[in-house]
Amino acid sequence: MLAAMLDHLKLEAEIGGYEAAAARSDQVAGFYREIAALINARPRNIAFAASATHAYSTALSSIRFEPGDVVLTTRNDFISNQIAFLSLRKRFGVEIVHAPDIREGGVDVEAMAALMRTKKPKLVAATHIPTNSGLVQPIAEIGRHCRELGLLYLVDACQSIGQYPVDVEEIGADLLTSTCRKFLRGPRGSGFLFVSDRFLEAGHEPLFIDMHGARWSAPGAYEPAKSASRFEEWEFPYATVLGCAAAARYAREVGLEAISRRTPALAARLRDGLGAIAGVEVLDRGPELGALVTFSIKGWEAVPFKEAMDARRINSALSYREFAQFDFGDKDVDWCLRLSPHYYNTEREVDDVAAAVAELAA
Ligand SMILES: Cc1ncc(COP(=O)(O)O)c(C=O)c1O
Repeated sequence: MLAAMLDHLKLEAEIGGYEAAAARSDQVAGFYREIAALINARPRNIAFAASATHAYSTALSSIRFEPGDVVLTTRNDFISNQIAFLSLRKRFGVEIVHAPDIREGGVDVEAMAALMRTKKPKLVAATHIPTNSGLVQPIAEIGRHCRELGLLYLVDACQSIGQYPVDVEEIGADLLTSTCRKFLRGPRGSGFLFVSDRFLEAGHEPLFIDMHGARWSAPGAYEPAKSASRFEEWEFPYATVLGCAAAARYAREVGLEAISRRTPALAARLRDGLGAIAGVEVLDRGPELGALVTFSIKGWEAVPFKEAMDARRINSALSYREFAQFDFGDKDVDWCLRLSPHYYNTEREVDDVAAAVAELAA
């Protein structure tokens, strides 16, 4: 990935940005082929995005919300998605409905399906794996109900792309968003949007479509592109696009099935190690857990604890109550630390992390 990016930046410096993009057009097309192959889609259904969040807001902007429309989602959908729904409520008067959870954690699919039938939502939105816990939501089951009822279905797969095989046909998604910078191990400032043929053919287009997404066909008219490029903008960070293509190719070569066996197994080992430490509470709940491990620790404030982990060269991320108003409210925690082992980590590293947390807890 790094080589692909550096090579392109060098070429841009040597011959110019437009010229470098033209010289590498086949490799740029490779981004669409690689991402499509990763999620069982066709290249024409993939749009590059500057982030998962940008992909998500572009997707939302293409739905013609009206006062009284319902967005049906879950209590564990990603913070920025929840804020976007609240913004839609503020501007368009949409109603936001959160499906309840089952006792062990994760959405109650049957209750969500019942809400689909009674509320007839304009949009059903689910996050596959939230940022705030290892919970894996049953997105294919939710999707089956959406397809049966003909409801628009938007999936945030930001934390699952590169960690699990994700198949847009099996999920029944109209739209799916992701970053490339997490489990896919791509560069920052990148993401993608999958747009189904169903959605394209229904004529949806982003609110602020540009000269790449549309052709200015007459002084008073434009024609949206027929493919998902309708959801892209003209300006592209080509080195980043090529880096994403390399990262997706690499993940497919390693094998998503193999990755999806090893990565959650390392996380389970880490949870076992952390769970055995006095003063540490592992917070992940749900019938299926992925490779996001979250925990709280007695006697520490958030920032000093993370700094203590940083000092031991253990990379981690903090999540605060406001990242997960429902989930952290239910768990009654103000913050937690998140660790995300990936397939290249060793069992020894995982055990060393648990040992470091034990030392800090003591
Ligand atoms: C579930 C989920 N969705 C979306 C995002 C947003 O990704 P980005 O910051 O690349 O826009 C994140 C980031 O943590 C996430 O965890």
